[in-house]
Amino acid sequence: MLTTPPLTLYVHLPWCVRKCPYCDFNSHQARGELPFDAYVDALLADLDHDLPLAWGRPVHAVFFGGGTPSLFPPAAIDRFLQGASARLRFMPGLEITLETNPGTAEHGRFADYLAAGVNRLSFGIQSFDDGCLQRLGRIHDSAQAETAVKQARDAGFDNFNLDLMYALPGQDLAMAEHDVERAVALEPAHISHYQLTLEPNTLFAARPPAGIPDDDRAWDMQERCQALLADAGYEHYEVSAYARPGRQCAHNLNYWRYGDYLGIGAGAHGKLTLGAEQAIVRRWKPRHPTAWLSVAGTDAGIGGEERVQPAQRPFEYMLNVLRLEEGFRLEDFEARCGLDRDAIAGPLAEARRRGWLREHDGRILTTALGGRFVNDVMELFLPEDTAPRRMPA
Ligand SMILES: C[S@@+](CC[C@H](N)C(=O)[O-])C[C@H]1O[C@@H](n2cnc3c(N)ncnc32)[C@H](O)[C@@H]1O
Ligand code: SF4
Repeated sequence: MLTTPPLTLYVHLPWCVRKCPYCDFNSHQARGELPFDAYVDALLADLDHDLPLAWGRPVHAVFFGGGTPSLFPPAAIDRFLQGASARLRFMPGLEITLETNPGTAEHGRFADYLAAGVNRLSFGIQSFDDGCLQRLGRIHDSAQAETAVKQARDAGFDNFNLDLMYALPGQDLAMAEHDVERAVALEPAHISHYQLTLEPNTLFAARPPAGIPDDDRAWDMQERCQALLADAGYEHYEVSAYARPGRQCAHNLNYWRYGDYLGIGAGAHGKLTLGAEQAIVRRWKPRHPTAWLSVAGTDAGIGGEERVQPAQRPFEYMLNVLRLEEGFRLEDFEARCGLDRDAIAGPLAEARRRGWLREHDGRILTTALGGRFVNDVMELFLPEDTAPRRMPA
């Protein structure tokens, strides 16, 4: 039996000062004045159109992602939040995160974001090495990044995340460790530590920069940095996410637990459980900001929609929960997927036989080996007709 999980709200703000050569997010270089007011109007119209999917359900977190949401003036964020809280039931004290590029941090902005209701910032730092930042095409240097974080703290933000990337062109183990040490020195509540990936359709994929560490060196960096983060009191709770106790990102955690989210804005994706219909619906919006702006809030503003069929749900579920250190309980699987645990008995037994999954305290968890090959573990749960033919392990 499907039961409705917690609901969060994702808001996509699609512009950046400049497109970074490694980035495949739905982000577009800003040219000229940005239409902030029109975009906020369109967001509220988009939300109105999606509301029937979430009538009466409380919202547990809001996440402004991008792109570079910190390009939006605080007054625009304030107007959106007022409009959204008039339409949806915001839980008291809910976490409201805004992604921030340190190169857009104007003095005085942070206090105004806080006054608008934003209570968590996520900074795209990437590295504290100016050579690495240049090779990544970032618009800020390390001094600007540190200043932005300190300004946010002085303005009253005590809950912030720093995004770091590792396995960067020209980076060695000591440099990767040094980045983590500099991040920890700023005392963030949360650190995201991503391995740089060469995404299709990016400049880096077309012309990979020299000096990208190979997989073994990247693995050493990951292990060493994870140990440094553990020593500094950051719990590893998801493949790339580390948090002080109780400071996990509420929106992302809900997403990884196969929770529900409304997704509004250009290219945003949503996932909603419809209890009465025993259905899971995915809905997404047109990707290009100009295209989305002209149709948001109308039927044409739905870029696509599909129902997640029961056979697809185990793989979707594993794609998310196996990223989490906490793993999952079989009763959660049943409630979130609307399936009996027997539906995954076969692949689960196989994953245990291969030493990829284990059970502890009623929870199914990845082993160290399973964590290293987590994509292979997930693939075991593909519907039978789509599963790639695999050699016996
Ligand atoms: C939307 S951005 C964060 C906010 C802002 N746009 C910025 O970059 O400062 C999300 C994060 O994803 C990570 N990221 C983007 N592309 C990546 C890639 N190819 N490999 C690994 N991490 C990547 C970066 O750490 C980035 O900060
Ligand atoms: S600033 Fe962030 S979202 Fe924009 S292009 Fe760079 S990494 Fe991507």
